[in-house]
Amino acid sequence: MKDLRGKRVLISGSARGIGLEMALKFAEKGADLVLSDIDERALPEALETVAVFGGAVHAYPLDVTRPDAVLGLRQRLVEEVGPIDVLVNNAGVVFGGPFLEVPLDQHAMTYRVNALGLVAMTHAFLPDLISRPEASLVNIASASAFIGLPFGSTYASSKWAVLGFSESLRLELSELGHRHVHVCAVCPSYIGTGMFEGARPPTTTRVLEPEFIAAAVVKAVVDEQLYVLEPWLVKITPALKGLLPTRLWDSLSSALGASSGMSGWIGHREEGAEDG
Ligand SMILES: NC(=O)c1ccc[n+]([C@@H]2O[C@H](COP(=O)([O-])OP(=O)(O)OC[C@H]3O[C@@H](n4cnc5c(N)ncnc54)[C@H](O)[C@@H]3O)[C@@H](O)[C@H]2O)c1
Repeated sequence: MKDLRGKRVLISGSARGIGLEMALKFAEKGADLVLSDIDERALPEALETVAVFGGAVHAYPLDVTRPDAVLGLRQRLVEEVGPIDVLVNNAGVVFGGPFLEVPLDQHAMTYRVNALGLVAMTHAFLPDLISRPEASLVNIASASAFIGLPFGSTYASSKWAVLGFSESLRLELSELGHRHVHVCAVCPSYIGTGMFEGARPPTTTRVLEPEFIAAAVVKAVVDEQLYVLEPWLVKITPALKGLLPTRLWDSLSSALGASSGMSGWIGHREEGAEDG
């Protein structure tokens, strides 16, 4: 999609974090934006921030775990805004910690938002993407879609699901002759949004800037890249993991600190929490 001017881009979970950063980058390129988030209170400010680029910006509250609400939003968009050209499935949650210490409902919520919510969004909006002359579906997975993530087992497995879904659907759309719908899976390591506060990136890598990854996603849409793998270590991870015997890979992962990175996870501080 060489020219984003006038294209309608819907991003789930875009009231903050990389969702908002991506909205800003798309708006900078002349796209019209549809922001959506479960956090209704944060949407007006996000809308104001994105509106400075001069394109049309809309904001709708949406909980992606509610398929009825997802379908309701799709109907409203068709009536009030028009069909979308780009869907970025970005909404996500993480609950870190030793598996048994994380309540089961938090493990289940991880799958409901990260995997089922993404599938519901795609199910609702894919017909619109197919109806456009060119379209893009971007699924925000994670570097942990390729590897095990101790202290984040359901988060990582929800992202394995996102990666498998993206690859399968990309091939299926091609088989069905819908090659004009580009599908991209985004697999970044830790990004400084607060979602992974307290987690440590592998040695030899740094926490990524939200702006950097947002720019990489917009470039991937323009250039129709199939993957965004950042930083460099993530680019070689699938090949390394495939080539090395499992115990050797485990030792390397441990030596790099990747296996213990989530042990200090805190995540977003509660709103209104006092400093110190
Ligand atoms: N931050 C990282 O280190 C990192 C690394 C790799 C991948 N990711 C992925 O990037 C995406 C965005 O993460 P972020 O770092 O910007 O996190 P964030 O917590 O800053 O933003 C996530 C947004 O999703 C929204 N959201 C949560 N549940 C929702 C729901 N049920 N319905 C609609 N919106 C909902 C939140 O309100 C929030 O605005 C997520 O899918 C995350 O898994 C993040």
